[in-house]
Amino acid sequence: MLSLNASPSSLTEEVRIADVVRTSMNSNRPLFIPVILGTVRVGRMSQHVARLMCGEIDKRAGVETELIDIAQMPLPISDAGEAIKNADFAAKMERADTLVIVSPEYNHGYSGLLKHVLDSCLKEYIHKPVGIVGVSAGPFGGTRVIQNLLPVMRELGLVTIFWDVNFSSVQNVFSSDGLLLDTSYIRRIEKFLNELVWMAATLRYGREQISLG
Ligand SMILES: Cc1cc2nc3c(=O)[nH]c(=O)nc-3n(C[C@H](O)[C@H](O)[C@H](O)COP(=O)(O)O)c2cc1C
Repeated sequence: MLSLNASPSSLTEEVRIADVVRTSMNSNRPLFIPVILGTVRVGRMSQHVARLMCGEIDKRAGVETELIDIAQMPLPISDAGEAIKNADFAAKMERADTLVIVSPEYNHGYSGLLKHVLDSCLKEYIHKPVGIVGVSAGPFGGTRVIQNLLPVMRELGLVTIFWDVNFSSVQNVFSSDGLLLDTSYIRRIEKFLNELVWMAATLRYGREQISLG
């Protein structure tokens, strides 16, 4: 995307960035974008959100996705961190080019079990972008849980994007069987995914082509 009034130096810079993304997008394998469903609660509305996110990702060319349900992960609670690494989850985090985390807001925070799962990996996350989707029964769309997740993401080596998706009053957004009732969310998800995919392609290029020195 070139702007007409760009100065020669910024024009060069934009061409370079566009080339970077194009090269990365065209290279070998599709971008892998798993969606982590961040609660184990029976009756969780976040499940509908996570499925919707996977469906919207799946519509795009050049990407692959998978829903990772933390309720299906047999992690022990007798220890924490990389000591309890799950081989399957770690392999998916290693393969991932970016993550989508769907997190409900529980007393303005995230589920303890989501944190337990995320803590089980570390090097697998480094220099990969993450987008957060907040889900709440109240009117703020999980903004407070997203704020609380930001420092955790940073410590894990993930790079947060500047778009979120906020599902407010989620009980009114989906029917009880998961049908999306408010289709205005599709446009918001599209903007979020545009940014996430750009970041995923750019950081993949960086990880593969640019040494840290
Ligand atoms: C322990 C607990 C704490 C909660 N705290 C909040 C809250 O701080 N703000 C809010 O808007 N909703 C809160 N909720 C409601 C959830 O946001 C609501 O259940 C929503 O559907 C997302 O969570 P779910 O995926 O578990 O359904 C809370 C729910 C639980 C179980």
